[in-house]
Amino acid sequence: MHNTNEYLLNFKGFNFIKKLVNTEELEKMEDVEIRDDDVFLITYPKSGTFWTQHLLLLIYFEGQRNGTENIQTSDKTIFLEYNIVDLDYVNMPSPRIFSSHLPYYLVPKGLKSKKAKILYVYRNPKDVLISYFYFSNWVLTFEPTDTIEHFLEKFLDGKVAGSCWFDHIRGWYEHRHDFNIMFLSYEDMKKDLRGSVLKICSFLEKELSEEDVNSVVRQATFQNMKSNPREDRDQVINTLIGTRHNEGSFLRKGATGDWKNHLTVDQNERFDMIFKRNMKNFPLKFIWDIYE
Ligand code: PPS
Repeated sequence: MHNTNEYLLNFKGFNFIKKLVNTEELEKMEDVEIRDDDVFLITYPKSGTFWTQHLLLLIYFEGQRNGTENIQTSDKTIFLEYNIVDLDYVNMPSPRIFSSHLPYYLVPKGLKSKKAKILYVYRNPKDVLISYFYFSNWVLTFEPTDTIEHFLEKFLDGKVAGSCWFDHIRGWYEHRHDFNIMFLSYEDMKKDLRGSVLKICSFLEKELSEEDVNSVVRQATFQNMKSNPREDRDQVINTLIGTRHNEGSFLRKGATGDWKNHLTVDQNERFDMIFKRNMKNFPLKFIWDIYE
């Protein structure tokens, strides 16, 4: 373990947000006891974590679906390495829903028994980059960056929390046979939310009525999540972590292809070149524009 800078802590080759982790807890993470009915959501930052957490709660808990259980996502999904709300997951009743940005080699070893399920959600990295740029400038514990050009350099060098995007997705994909894992893209969820909910339900062996599926889909659209008073994510971030200014929003745009409004032709070409080099022969498909 070594300190990377004021904002990042490098533990076993992976960058964490320094102020939000406890090294003793990181040391224990691989030994966290896993139950057969645990569900893990794995993502690289800014790839649709909160969206999918919200979906999983709606799928798993009737009280979330019909609004009788007034519990915020952050109080019911366990963020393994950033457990800032201090959820007592050891004593939490099943089913437990975890989320994590961890690379394949740092997750609890018990996941290799292949009983607990892992949902890996990925997003095209140009939109990840733009989302991450705004988020880092907004939230206090992240290092701010003056320009997209500078953030692009950091992102491509893996000098951000979550380290290198290419290593994250490649690592998980190349080790997929060690786990019970399903891959799903943010863009597929955007294009066909209902179809994606059905895919998730089928993987998790959760049978929902048509009415319940409709209710999940309705409550997980960008607009409905943004206007849901129970899920005021900006307020949660403000209270738990703190922000630099009031212009940011966690549910910023929720769009695919926003990178086109930000990257110059030159930056885009450079990105493409590096993407091609790193993702050679990689079989998962990426959607760069919703109209593709
Ligand atoms: S984090 O901080 O790593 O947990 O962020 P994460 O939740 O992975 O990603 C945040 C982006 O997801 C978008 N989001 C959504 N998009 C579409 N539909 C829904 N319902 C939705 N909910 C969250 C959120 O707006 C962030 O993307 P950007 O591009 O910044 O808007």
